[in-house]
Amino acid sequence: MMTVTASAPGKLMLFGEHAVVYGKPCLVTAVDIRYMCTAQRNGTDFINIDTPELRTSKEITTISMSSLENPSLPFRTQATAFVEAAVRGLYEKHDFREGFDITTEGAPKQYGLGSSSAITVATIAALDELFSLNLNKREIFDLAYSAVLSVQNGKGSGFDVAAAVYGGSLYYVIGGKEIETLPDVDLPLIIGYTGEKASTTSYIRHVAELRENHPKRIDRFFDFIAYLVEDAREMLIQGDWKTFGELANVNQSILETFDISPPQLQNPILAARGAGAWGAKLSGAGGGDCMFAVVDEDHRPKVEAAINEAIQQRTLEEVAVLDFAVNASGVRIES
Ligand code: PMV
Repeated sequence: MMTVTASAPGKLMLFGEHAVVYGKPCLVTAVDIRYMCTAQRNGTDFINIDTPELRTSKEITTISMSSLENPSLPFRTQATAFVEAAVRGLYEKHDFREGFDITTEGAPKQYGLGSSSAITVATIAALDELFSLNLNKREIFDLAYSAVLSVQNGKGSGFDVAAAVYGGSLYYVIGGKEIETLPDVDLPLIIGYTGEKASTTSYIRHVAELRENHPKRIDRFFDFIAYLVEDAREMLIQGDWKTFGELANVNQSILETFDISPPQLQNPILAARGAGAWGAKLSGAGGGDCMFAVVDEDHRPKVEAAINEAIQQRTLEEVAVLDFAVNASGVRIES
């Protein structure tokens, strides 16, 4: 029986987090930590979903094709919610009429690099191929973004979905209103993982509350972030990494005023700058997950060592510097 495997990359937010939720642009790059989805028809009326890296028990989640008729049913498990949402969304538009088995696969460790959106995108791409639906990238993006929103209670700009679908580095506006692929340049970055998982939704809520209390002030900050995004986009195109790094520092200082950069982020960010990085900032909602530094080749070893040391001081864990390439290619069929 035909088996299809699709893979999609993770993401690293470069500039513009939070402001992007309010309609401002952001810059994101796809990260070569790939999430896979393998799908195979099973000749039944059932869909079996196995997400080994996400589940807490050994169970495989089975849903009947008929339950897809009722999209308001709750998701069967938290671990399979994104796959279930992807299947439902696809079923609404493209009736499959035959059951299938889905197995997902990804990095065992979650770094906050967009595993959920990558798995959603890989699922849609695998089913697209399996049932010869001939979806284009925009259709895959739209289906995956609605699926992600249905799991995340309508929260999220979709920048992670865009990175998973299109790959490369993107200039992005919420809902995919603008998705511009930037030139395929070597981004001189170091990614540091704080070792602490952050809750994106609670930080989105925190910034929303700040904005409720200080609407004009926060919107001014968002306007300024939008300006930095435009500027950084230009510097990326020109390859002016020194200025790109300095702009990252300015973006970071605004995020600090939102109170979303605790010591686990602050320490490696300051350490990276102290060791000679052009700039360093948090990436994503804040509170933990990843930071990155912009660095020239001469300073790379020193900056990597400084980030490792700053993070190990807190977690005494494994290395903090992640060795994933950026500007990775978007969703693709592997076999
Ligand atoms: O925490 P992450 O890496 O998923 O990034 C969230 C970025 C936000 O702008 C805060 C939310 C969003 O969906 O754009």
